[in-house]
Amino acid sequence: EKGGYDYFMLKEIAEQPKAVSDTLLGRIDASGQLHLDEIRIPTGELREVNKIVIVACGTAYHAGMIAKYAIEHWTRIPCETELASEFRYRDPILDSRTLVVAISQSGETMDTLMALRHAREQGARVLAICNTNGSTIPRESDAVLYTHAGPEVAVASTKAFLTQLVACYLVALYLGQVRGTKWGDEIQSVIGQLARIGDDVDAVLETMEPVRELARGLADRDTVLFLGRHVGYPVALEGALKLKELAYMHAEGFAAGELKHGPIALIEDGVPVVVVVPSPRGRSVLHDKIVSNIQEVRARGALTIVIAEQGDESVVPYADHLIRVPATPTLLQPMVATVPLQVFACELATARGNEVDQPRNLAKSVTVE
Ligand code: M6R
Repeated sequence: EKGGYDYFMLKEIAEQPKAVSDTLLGRIDASGQLHLDEIRIPTGELREVNKIVIVACGTAYHAGMIAKYAIEHWTRIPCETELASEFRYRDPILDSRTLVVAISQSGETMDTLMALRHAREQGARVLAICNTNGSTIPRESDAVLYTHAGPEVAVASTKAFLTQLVACYLVALYLGQVRGTKWGDEIQSVIGQLARIGDDVDAVLETMEPVRELARGLADRDTVLFLGRHVGYPVALEGALKLKELAYMHAEGFAAGELKHGPIALIEDGVPVVVVVPSPRGRSVLHDKIVSNIQEVRARGALTIVIAEQGDESVVPYADHLIRVPATPTLLQPMVATVPLQVFACELATARGNEVDQPRNLAKSVTVE
């Protein structure tokens, strides 16, 4: 049932292009219009929403962090993303014009379930983004948008994450389309690129052998650091989470702009630092700042592992290892930039002799608070 792969995780990483296409299927038509009537919240109500709050845990929370950038940019609705386990304990401000989005692969995560129950008690509408038909979280929500990743068996979430991102982009673009924003043209063009993003994920998977080799060479290290900015920041957090849970290594993700506020003190000779570089075409200011960060950590001895868009030559002089990903619109880059980090963590876990599909101390679905 592992389809010829040694681990479910490897199989699920490889299934990502299909999972992504399945999640898009029927939701974008030939003329680039989105069809999300299945969520059954009347468009009139969607136009009234004045605040969006995303709640989730772990990897799903990282998808939610990325969604915040997309939602605020394309819809201009204020959006916050919060760890489900923190949410209800701070007495959050919610009312009938708040849309709460609960993201969960399993649909059974107790922290997320308790957060959405709290939100509904306060009168908010809840939309679930979920991979498991008929599970508790969608049953208790007002609306649901299913991801179609298929069953995810490995404890470490991979294909579910990419499909959660797709669902989040669809919601953001749909809200933008329904409400009408000044980004109409950009929304149209991104929808076209989202429709083809499965091919980009496929292209990344084709080029992963050097990443595996790199991982094997780092198997005896204690620490790996990850840096990113904008949507690359949650990607850095996701890369670090994968490494913790699978390789049992100390791994931390930072917003690259925070380096000088503390974390740079951790840099010493030989520490691997993975840097997610945004496109030089989109927010080029951010791109240039992160290239400076790469130079700063390298000058202090770090081993730099750089994930950058095809054709971005500016990073070449500072990258000890360079991982190329296809050019995408800025907000979609996590779809391609996360994949090498999944492969990296999986290979490191294997090299360290760890149980890839069933890491110690972890359960696939966490049904206690
Ligand atoms: O089923 P859920 O998406 O609600 O699960 C949330 C987290 O427990 C989950 O993403 C966890 O962080 C994964 N093991 C990460 O790989």
